[in-house]
Amino acid sequence: MVTVLVTGGAGFIGSNFIRFMLDSHKTYSIINLDQLTYAGNLENLRDIETNANYSFFRGNICDRSLVERIVSENNIDYIVNFAAESHVDRSIKDPEIFIKSNVLGTQVLLDAAQKYNLNKFVQISTDEVYGSLGSTGYFTENTPLSPNSPYSASKASADLLVRAYYKTFGLNVNITRCSNNYGPYQFPEKLIPLMIYNAINGKKIPVYGDGLNIRDWLHVNDHCSAIDSVLQNGKIGEVYNIGGNNEKTNIDIVKTIIKILSEKLPERDISESLISFIEDRKGHDRRYAIDATKIDQELGWKPQIVFEDGIRMTVDWYLNNKHWLNSIINEDYRNYYQKVYGGL
Ligand code: NAD
Ligand code: DAU
Repeated sequence: MVTVLVTGGAGFIGSNFIRFMLDSHKTYSIINLDQLTYAGNLENLRDIETNANYSFFRGNICDRSLVERIVSENNIDYIVNFAAESHVDRSIKDPEIFIKSNVLGTQVLLDAAQKYNLNKFVQISTDEVYGSLGSTGYFTENTPLSPNSPYSASKASADLLVRAYYKTFGLNVNITRCSNNYGPYQFPEKLIPLMIYNAINGKKIPVYGDGLNIRDWLHVNDHCSAIDSVLQNGKIGEVYNIGGNNEKTNIDIVKTIIKILSEKLPERDISESLISFIEDRKGHDRRYAIDATKIDQELGWKPQIVFEDGIRMTVDWYLNNKHWLNSIINEDYRNYYQKVYGGL
C-alpha cells in the first residue's frame, strides 16, 4: 500500500485529485488534511467519504505537532501540498493569512517530509509566480519568478523554500506550476463559477478592466493526471509547468458561458446585457500562457479535454448541482461579495 498525504483536499483541485487518485490507483491510501477554511467543503468529497482507502483529518498545515503526528503514525510515503489561500482578490484585501498558510504552512510540511524521510514532496504551485506576459511568449520552467500579487508572492516564496530543501537537505521534491483550472467544485469567487452563478440568478456579471486579460484554461481532471505523472515519474528536484495551450480573454469566457446558459435556459433572460465592466483588479496580470513542452517530452503527459467540451460539461455540472452552489452563498460569502464588488 502506498500512502499519500494530500493537504487542502477539501478544496476545488484537491478534492478532484483525491477522487482521481482513488479511481486510478486501487492500492493507494489517501489521507486528506484540511483546515476547512471558507474554501474547504466536505460536500466536495461526499461520494468517496466511505471509501476504505480514504481518511480525513481536520487541521491546519501550520500545526507542526498535528502534521508530525499524522505523518509518523500513518506511514506516509508522499505529500502533495494543495493547501493554500488561493484567491488573488482576497490576497489584495488581506495578505497576512496568505503568508501564514502558503509560506509557513509549506515549511512545516517540508520539515515533516524531511524528518520522516518521505519518498517525495510535491508542491502544487501556479503559473502566477512568473508574473505577467506581454502579447507574445510563454512561461517556461526557466522564466524568472516575478510575482505581482500577495497571493503569487506567497506561492513564489513557498516554491523557493521547496527548492532550498532540495538543494540544502537533499529532500526529494517536485514543483508543479499550472495555469487556470476550471471544472466541478470550484468555489464561486473564481471567474467561471462566479459568472455561472450570477448569470443563472439574473445578477450582474463583473468583468475587471477591459476584459481583455488572458488566461490559459485547463480542465481540472487534466491537472490531476499531470500531478499524478509528476508524483510517479517526475525527476527529483525538477519543476514542471502544466497547461492546456488554451488562451482565452476573460470577455470571451464570459460570452461563451452566457451563450451556453441562454441555450440551456431559454426561459430566463440570460444575455450579454448582464455584463458590467468594473474597476480593474489592482496589479492585474495581463496574460498567462504556459509552455508545457517539458512535461509532455519527459513524462508523456498531454491534456485530454478540449475546452469547448470541458466548458459545456462544467456548466452542466453547476446546473445539476445547484444545491451545492446555493449552500455556499451564505452570510460570509455575501460579506465577501460586498467587500470586493460593492453594491453590484
Ligand atoms: P481552494 O481555495 O479551492 O482550496 C484550498 C483548500 O486548502 C481548502 O480546502 C482549504 O480549506 C485548504 N486550506 C487553506 N489553508 C489551509 C491551512 N492552513 N491548512 C490546511 N488546509 C488549508 O484552492 P484550489 O483552487 O483548489 O487550489 C489548490 C492549490 O492549487 C493551491 O495551492 C493553488 O495555489 C494551486 N493552484 C490553483 C489553480 C487554480 O486555477 N485554482 C491553478 C494552479 C495552482
Ligand atoms: O493561473 C493560476 C491561478 O488561477 C491560480 O494560481 C489561482 O489560485 C486561481 O485563483 C487563478 O487566479 P486568477 O486570478 O487568474 O483567477 P480568477 O478566476 O480570480 O480570475 C481569472 C481572470 O478573470 C482574471 O484575469 C481576473 C478576471 N476576473 C475575475 C473575477 C473573479 C474578472 O474579470 N471578474 C471577476 O469577478
